[in-house]
Amino acid sequence: MENNRGTFGSNLGFILAAVGSAVGLGNIWGFPYKMGLNGGFAFLLVYLVLAIFVGLAVMVGELAIGRKTGMSPVAAYRKLSKKFTWMGYMAVIVPFLILCFYFVLGGMVMRYALSYLTAIFGWNTWGVEDVTTFFGTFILNGGQMILWTAIFIVINAFIVAAGVAGGIEKFCKIGMPALFVMLLVVIIYVAVQPGAMDGYKFMFGWNLEPLKTDFLGVLKAAAGQMFFSLSLGMGAIITYGSYLQKKENVQKNAVIIIVCDTLVAIMAGMIVMPACAAFLDGAYGGGPGLLFASMQQVFHNMGYIGNIMGFLFYTLVFIAAISSSMSLLEVITSFKVDQNVAEGKAPGRKKYAIIAAVIIFIFCLPTCLDGLGNGLANGAAIGTPAEILNIDVKGWNCDWLDFYDMLSEGIMMPLGAMVMTFMIGWIWKLDMVVEECEVSGHKFWGKTFFDICYKFITPIGMAFVLYAQVLTFFG
Ligand code: PFF
Repeated sequence: MENNRGTFGSNLGFILAAVGSAVGLGNIWGFPYKMGLNGGFAFLLVYLVLAIFVGLAVMVGELAIGRKTGMSPVAAYRKLSKKFTWMGYMAVIVPFLILCFYFVLGGMVMRYALSYLTAIFGWNTWGVEDVTTFFGTFILNGGQMILWTAIFIVINAFIVAAGVAGGIEKFCKIGMPALFVMLLVVIIYVAVQPGAMDGYKFMFGWNLEPLKTDFLGVLKAAAGQMFFSLSLGMGAIITYGSYLQKKENVQKNAVIIIVCDTLVAIMAGMIVMPACAAFLDGAYGGGPGLLFASMQQVFHNMGYIGNIMGFLFYTLVFIAAISSSMSLLEVITSFKVDQNVAEGKAPGRKKYAIIAAVIIFIFCLPTCLDGLGNGLANGAAIGTPAEILNIDVKGWNCDWLDFYDMLSEGIMMPLGAMVMTFMIGWIWKLDMVVEECEVSGHKFWGKTFFDICYKFITPIGMAFVLYAQVLTFFG
């Protein structure tokens, strides 16, 4: 049975795939822009504390559940406790909802990378020349948005259909080291630009003032970012854990994944912040448009070399995005594969990867067509949920992207993480995690620390995040 589902070829392959899942738009898009809006260093500090006290426990818990059961989330939770099968379903629905906007953003990144590639050779300057208007025009062009989303989805489906070792692991083994090298090249180039220093000061200079003015705001932003960035609370890590071999060290792998993910987020910040300092007069607060509109302006201001840097930068964002989106698609595909295998049928991986991709594509259409929140009022093809349902929007934009994001990242993800850690802390008990981790022959370290995390810190922290999110969404 195990073989029918597929498995990673090596521990390195597993680590690179899990790091690939974690390192994504969350790191390179979300981290710098949220840091830019939430006080730089103060945000970084809170993020690091959360990754250690919350992220590590949840990561170890999810890997252990996945490997212990050898199943993707629905079957895994059912095996642990029938009453909690709903958690498994939630862990499949969340990736589905995330992909309804993640695929669209991935397609946009791909278009940016190709724009810069063609600009290097002077074949055309589309997307590079009309720097101030390009982003706005692009997102209002429904046909273009759909086209690039579709291309991105096809590549994803192709890789997931090729299997865990044959597709995902193979891609990540080449993609992840390449991403790292490209990050380094762009970091070094940006570092030697006059004025870059201010960006580092914003990121690393000791300044806790933002925590005094809006502690809750910074905490909420950092917590949401940490969960999303580490791929926690939504089935991906459980699924990858189910392919992890029994001889491998779960705790060590969890630490490696978290360290690599955090490192890449900081490295992405070390591109975006100094670049904004050097080329955009320190305009760090570009918000969600930072990755597209602000960075495009940055590369434009670099002159010709900006085409090369832009190409490298968006290519590395593309690799990061696709290695994450394939892990989300894998969660959905493996849900059906596991069902088939349990019923003694052929796994049907290819078929279900394609079916899932097509269904998600249909749900991506509203995201492509509402002009990322421009809505009918600003010339988009369809209305935002706020326009359609006539909602009086309070703390969020209520466009289709935010709508999918609110349901998934905002509500279901903290809920899932809260219930999971509560169950480990109080019902299934830490022993379940310890036993699974020690199967490999490695001693479980930090029992008291993990116990306190599962029993108190994580469930209470998540309850708080959930409350804060609901307040944001419903004013
Ligand atoms: N961690 C990815 C990112 O930072 O972009 C996004 C993600 C992937 C979230 C896989 C959830 C997931 F299950």
